[in-house]
Amino acid sequence: MSQDNKRTKKEIHDQVNLLISKMTIEEKVGQLYQTAIMGEFDYGPAFEKNNLSVLIKEGRLGSMVGPYDNKVSEKLQKIAVEQSRLGIPLMFCNDIIHGCRTGFPVNLAMSGSFNPELVKESAEVIAFEASHSGTHVTFAPMLDIVRDPRWGRVVESPGEDPYLASVMAKSWVEGFQGSDCSDGNHVGSCAKHFVAYGAAEAGREYNTVDMSERMLRQIYLKPFHQAVQSGAKMVMSAFNVYDGIPITSNKFLLKNVLRDEMGFKGVTVSDYTSTEELLNHKTARDKKDVAFKCLDATMDIELIATSYSKYLPELSKEYPSIQKSIDEAVYRVLTLKYELGLFDRPYSNIHPDFEKYFLLPNHLEVAKKMAIESIVMLENNGVLPIEKTKNIALIGPFSTTNRLVGPWGGKARNEDCISVYDGLSKLYPNLLNAEGSTLKTIDENMINEAMIVASKSDVILLALGEDQYESGEANSKSFIGISDAQIELVKKLHELNKPMVAVIFSGRPLILTPLIPYVDALLYAWFLGTETGNALADIISGKENPSARLAMTFPYSQGQIPIYYNHMRTGRPLDDINHPKNHYTSRYIDIKNQPLYPFGYGLSYSQFTYDHFNVSQDILEDQGFEVSFEITNQSDQDGAEVVQLYIEALYFSVTRPVNELKKFKKIWIRAHETEHVSFNLNFDDFRYYGYPMVNTTESAEYYIKIGLHAEKMIFTKKIQINER
Ligand code: BGC
Repeated sequence: MSQDNKRTKKEIHDQVNLLISKMTIEEKVGQLYQTAIMGEFDYGPAFEKNNLSVLIKEGRLGSMVGPYDNKVSEKLQKIAVEQSRLGIPLMFCNDIIHGCRTGFPVNLAMSGSFNPELVKESAEVIAFEASHSGTHVTFAPMLDIVRDPRWGRVVESPGEDPYLASVMAKSWVEGFQGSDCSDGNHVGSCAKHFVAYGAAEAGREYNTVDMSERMLRQIYLKPFHQAVQSGAKMVMSAFNVYDGIPITSNKFLLKNVLRDEMGFKGVTVSDYTSTEELLNHKTARDKKDVAFKCLDATMDIELIATSYSKYLPELSKEYPSIQKSIDEAVYRVLTLKYELGLFDRPYSNIHPDFEKYFLLPNHLEVAKKMAIESIVMLENNGVLPIEKTKNIALIGPFSTTNRLVGPWGGKARNEDCISVYDGLSKLYPNLLNAEGSTLKTIDENMINEAMIVASKSDVILLALGEDQYESGEANSKSFIGISDAQIELVKKLHELNKPMVAVIFSGRPLILTPLIPYVDALLYAWFLGTETGNALADIISGKENPSARLAMTFPYSQGQIPIYYNHMRTGRPLDDINHPKNHYTSRYIDIKNQPLYPFGYGLSYSQFTYDHFNVSQDILEDQGFEVSFEITNQSDQDGAEVVQLYIEALYFSVTRPVNELKKFKKIWIRAHETEHVSFNLNFDDFRYYGYPMVNTTESAEYYIKIGLHAEKMIFTKKIQINER
């Protein structure tokens, strides 16, 4: 060991090889098996009727999802370390996605903060709680690019843009892992779901995917590439197929792209039973075929399913050549266990008093900050912020509920969440309240009560949306609007002729079009976690200024889905909807093409003006461009602007998106002050997979644009670049 008590790479390499030389085939295959234990000791979908302790003792289990109980973790780890022949410790993996016990906003909301430093800080808090409660690796970040809000898992994703997603991927991986994921305060990070799972056809969960290689490389692979560069220790394969082959057995993607091109040296894990789903895809004849194909594709750990455990020993006798593949997979798993410090400190993440590391004041502080920076203001005619002397009537199914954690909430509990009512009542002593409606059913009595309460108020604050378990895994929906019951309530309340502010809770962009005519202001709160009510109270009262932007386009209508800002051009663009000759253009005859709210959109209480735009090539000499401008906060309130730099390529060998986000910065500007902003654009920022499939700038012209959001550019400058 080196002086700082850490093993060097060479030492790990030698130890792992020594260990492998002592292992039986069953012990090797054991390292490639991961089961789940959700509750009691010896319970869970373990290897058929064998009980867990026997499996561990015999060295036939390497890792597990769970346990959620530290006493169980300790018992199991003891068996592995003290009773198995080689004493190889178990690795505990958990889905700690947007919070362990302290609940943070859902990931799509956090992306919309456009604040990578704060996301990293949040990831560090999350890792601290996770590592102190037994987790070694978190199955996060989820890096699926999404374009279809019907798909329930958009809630876990970093959004629709590959650049924003890549920036967030870096924050998550670095925050989770720190500079040393074995230090007891951090965890290993598993980027998932590799790859293109978010492109499930029609937004239907687990549905098939089909796309060009160019699309895959330009859009869907980008955040994974960044996660690998940031040092993610694991990658989980997705359930879907790519180009006809399930990713779990897709050698082109797992071996050629992930390992050879991207340089990933870590461990791959299948998603839950996705190995044996080859049988349903009909690309494998039987489980033996499954084991052969997945191993050949360099899939290391099989999660839940048991084709490896059952058939790899037999296969290795029939085809001695695959012993090498098994050894390579085992080498990667054991190397990770060393890197996580498991051989040296197998019990270091297991604390009997783990709960004392949860919900610490500094954790809640970061969670609140993150929640504040995740709330998007979509509309405001001046009714917000609301003075504390005003009488607010808080109405709606989300007014007092604490079901605010969001899907994949880790160990976070609803009972720790501050409801909207509890948060607001601290600041507004005259707060009135009535539910007015359930989530889905119209109740005349409830409406009548709400009308009476609202009639006594100065402002009506609506808390609406869909339940936290209407998004997340296996929660695709064909109708993604606000329910009829809630719209009915809003219409009734509108008759009172009072200012109305709506706060919407949801894990996905909802179609808000029917609501807009009735409200004076609209806040999108997603699911904000433990600090929900406190964060909303600060925004509504004006103590804090909204600063989030949309990480995903909000459709005007369901018929527009999939809809996203960085779409390709068409040969028949719609320039002027009113032009009589424009019938044969790319459009709908019943609605406009534009979304309700585009990517990058979000309002502030402050007003900003931009000027002195300049693009110069000389500062970075031959490396790229410096783009600079000034922003002035013209208002009386300090606030943040998310400045966004897009490019548009002209005359490239292949058609490219109409706009591509290349840089952004969140800048806090004091009232009436001006800030100078500059971006360095490298030539690499202009690269794209052209024709043939080469990543190049080509000799092309480009617009460099500064946008308020993806659909409103305020500065544009054309430049020429020669092929590089
Ligand atoms: C999900 C993964 C998750 C895994 C383990 C699967 O159903 O797709 O995202 O990490 O379960 O819990």
